[in-house]
Parts: sequence; structure tokens; C-alpha cells
Amino acid sequence: MIGAQWGDEGKGKITDLLSRSADIVVRYQGGVNAGHTVVVNGQTLKLHLIPSGILYPNTECVIGSGTVVDPEILIQELDMLESLGISTENLYISESAHVTMPYHRLIDQASEERRGDHRIGTTGRGIGPTYADKSERTGIRLLDLMDPEGLKKQLRWTVNYKNAILEKLYGLPPLNPEEVIAQYQEFSKRLRPHVIDCSLKIYDAVQRRRNILFEGAQGTLLDLDHGTYPYVTSSNPVAGGACVGTGVGPTMIDRVIGVAKAYTTRVGEGPFPTELNDSMGDALCDRGSEFGTTTGRRRRCGWFDAVIGRYAVRINGLDCLAITKLDVLDTLAEIKVCVAYEMDGVHCQDFPTNARHFARCHPVYEILPGWQQSTEHCRSLKDLPQAALNYLKFLAELMEVPIAIVSLGAARDQTIIVEDPIHGPKRALLYSNGQTLLA
Ligand code: GDP
Ligand code: IMO
Ligand code: MG
Repeated sequence: MIGAQWGDEGKGKITDLLSRSADIVVRYQGGVNAGHTVVVNGQTLKLHLIPSGILYPNTECVIGSGTVVDPEILIQELDMLESLGISTENLYISESAHVTMPYHRLIDQASEERRGDHRIGTTGRGIGPTYADKSERTGIRLLDLMDPEGLKKQLRWTVNYKNAILEKLYGLPPLNPEEVIAQYQEFSKRLRPHVIDCSLKIYDAVQRRRNILFEGAQGTLLDLDHGTYPYVTSSNPVAGGACVGTGVGPTMIDRVIGVAKAYTTRVGEGPFPTELNDSMGDALCDRGSEFGTTTGRRRRCGWFDAVIGRYAVRINGLDCLAITKLDVLDTLAEIKVCVAYEMDGVHCQDFPTNARHFARCHPVYEILPGWQQSTEHCRSLKDLPQAALNYLKFLAELMEVPIAIVSLGAARDQTIIVEDPIHGPKRALLYSNGQTLLA
């Protein structure tokens, strides 16, 4: 399950729904930049790293090797869940996952400040610098954290190296290596019982025919390789990232489910063709409560963009989509959908990967009538106003992908299951059979 836009599509809610039939839920990339809100029995839970599958007592959760782990925030999350009576015994963390250190957070924040007008608008959680160290081969992994003597040696060298950057490049005070060592040794004691070989655990589950849900954080357009570079995150949220980020072969993945909002949001900097800098944008933000779960920043809001939707179908090989937050559009008289772009007078239907071109794209809209009545209580397609049904059909046909789930509110039951997203027909099959797109 992946995000088909710029993150915050409502993946937390959909993961929670799909976790009901999963034996294992696995995060494969990203770190505590993610913020997933789940509403269960009126209670709101905010998770950054632990998959929302943890709410089901029999579901195992794995934080995979492609993630980056901030132990301090992870431990806070474990404490929060335990304090609510939710067991975290079933949580496993890959020993190969990289660890976010205090210098990563400081460098993330200082480098953003230094970039000025060129800033990315990161979450300031040290994500980019942690992945940079992984690529540079100076990173600390969970397995390094589990070796107290090795960790001391490694951190004395690394903290001094990073201090040179903090002091000389950014004019910041240095970190005390012994304090960092002591703090991370404490973290390692707490996390040790959860640390495992992730690929082995998942392969074993595959052989025992368990159901495994791979949960992407962020979204397709924030992907390091396929998103709106450089305004992206430093990992691979796309479906292919699930293989690399867990050590599972591509033949073991049966199905790919995308999650998209019925409109679009983006947090941080970067081009966003359908952005609404007017009262309509404010209305979407207010009705959708579009404020970041991780940083509290106001999310930029705009109309649904089917060009990026089609791109997400292609890049991820989506079998079906979950459309969330349809209820947010309930009051509108008209709804616009971006069906193509116009760039320097040229009509284009495909997402341009060149960010400079993308920044010059203007949306070409089709206008659909709104339904101007509440959909919050709809529980089947039959309950939906005709205009809402037409809107969904229009999206499905534009993106050539079936809509399997429609979400009409944050609660678990505010959902229409159009078709079984796990056992329903695969997209390729559906097309060869000439079936309709929505149901
Ligand atoms: P994620 O990062 O993709 O998991 O999404 P976030 O949790 O950051 O943001 C989605 C927000 O929308 C959360 O506050 C959810 O509780 C809420 N939400 C999810 N689905 C719906 C829906 O269908 N309607 C409404 N109104 N809110 C929803
Ligand atoms: P979830 O999982 C939305 C954005 C940041 C910034 C860019 C890079 O909740 O959908 P980073 O801190 O990752 O280096 O920031 O990516 N970003 C997100 N936007 N949802 C997220 O996660 C995000 N995680 C990172 O705002 O633009
Ligand atoms: Mg989020």
C-alpha cells in the first residue's frame, strides 16, 4: 500500500483497515518524518514509525531495513502505546535499519536554514542526513547500536567528524561524544528485544503463506528517484521500495494498492500545479483539517490532479486505489479535476520528470457538479449521491484504475468497500476482461 500523491493521503487509516486481514505489517522506508493519524473508537492515535497494524493484538509489525530509526521518538511511541494498554511485544525492527543521531537532526535544520529560498521544507527530523550517511557508508545501524564496545569506537570517531561540520560550516556548538554514547547505549537496551533479521522473518512468513502488508510512508511524488526532485524525501516510497527496503523479492508481491485523497495536498516547498491560493484552498484546508501530523504545518491544498494520478498508477503498477476524504468535498457546488497540463502553450498528459518543466505546468481543468449533501454516513455505493458517484467514476476512468475503497471520514466504519482490494481482480486482468472501472 503506497501513497499516490505527496503524502498524507490517509495511509494510516487505510493501513488500519487492511491490517484486519494481515498477519504482518511492514514499514519499508522513511522515518519519523511520517505522521499517520488513526481514529479508533473515537480515540485519535498519531504514529510516526510503528505501523498502525500494532492496534491488532495478533498482527506482527516490522520496521524494515530501508527505514531510518530515531530511537528517542520510537521509544516515546512505544511508551505511548503501552500507556494505552496496547501491547508492543509484536514489534520487530530490522538490524540493518539506519539510526538517526542528534547530529543528523542538527544538520537537517541548519542546512535548511542555510539554503534560504532554496529550502526543501523538510520536517527537520534528520531524515536526509541519516540517508546521506547510509550512502556515504558512515551510518550507524541498529546492529551497531547492539554492540556497546564497537558503538563507542564508532561514535567517538563519527561525533568528532560531525562536530567539525557543526562548528565550522554551521557555527553550532559541538556535541559531547561521551554524552551521545551514553544516551544511545540506553536506547539500545530498550530496543534490543525487538531487533531481528527482517528479510528472514518475512521470507519465513511467505513460506507459511501468511498475509503480509507492506506499508509505504510519504508518497509517490516525494520519491527520491521518481518524485519532484529536489523537493522530495530521501527514500523510495514507491512500490518498488518495498523490495529493497525489506529484502523481499519482487515475485513475492501479489498486489499494489494506492491511496489518494479526493483532492490534493502538499507540505513543504516545491511545484504543485493545482494548488489553490484562494478562499477555496482555505476551505479545503479547514474542512479537511489539513495540518501536518509531524510538524503542525498548514498543508497546501488544491484540486485533484489526474496527471500525477496516472503517473502513480504507472510508477507503482497500481492494481486499485483507495480514495479518501471524499466527504471534504461535500459542500462544494462545483469540483475541478486537472485532466492535463499546459506547458509553454503545449498540451501534455504525462507527468514531466524534469522539475523545471513541472514548475511551468498549468492545470487544464474539467468541472464537475458537486453533490452538496453529506456523505459521512454512506456505507455503500448505493448510498452515495449520484454526483459523488459520477466524480469517482470520472477519476477511475481518467486514471484507468479501479477504485476499491472510498473513505468518507476518519473513523474505521466511515468507509465503502467497493471491492475486496486484496482478493479482487488484478488491474491487468480487469482490463483484459473489459470490466467497468469502479465496481
Ligand atoms: P497519512 O500520512 O497518509 O497516514 O495521512 P495523515 O494521517 O497524515 O492525514 C490524513 C488525515 O485525514 C488524518 O487526520 C486522518 O484521520 C484523516 N482522514 C483519513 N481519512 C479520512 C476521510 O475519509 N475523511 C476525513 N474527513 N478525514 C480522513
Ligand atoms: P506521511 O507518511 C507529507 C515532505 C516534507 C518535505 C519533504 C522532505 O505522513 O505521508 P524530509 O523531512 O522527509 O526530508 O522532508 O518531504 N514530507 C512529507 N509530506 N507527508 C509525509 O509523510 C512526509 N514526510 C516528508 O514536508 O517537503
Ligand atoms: Mg501524514
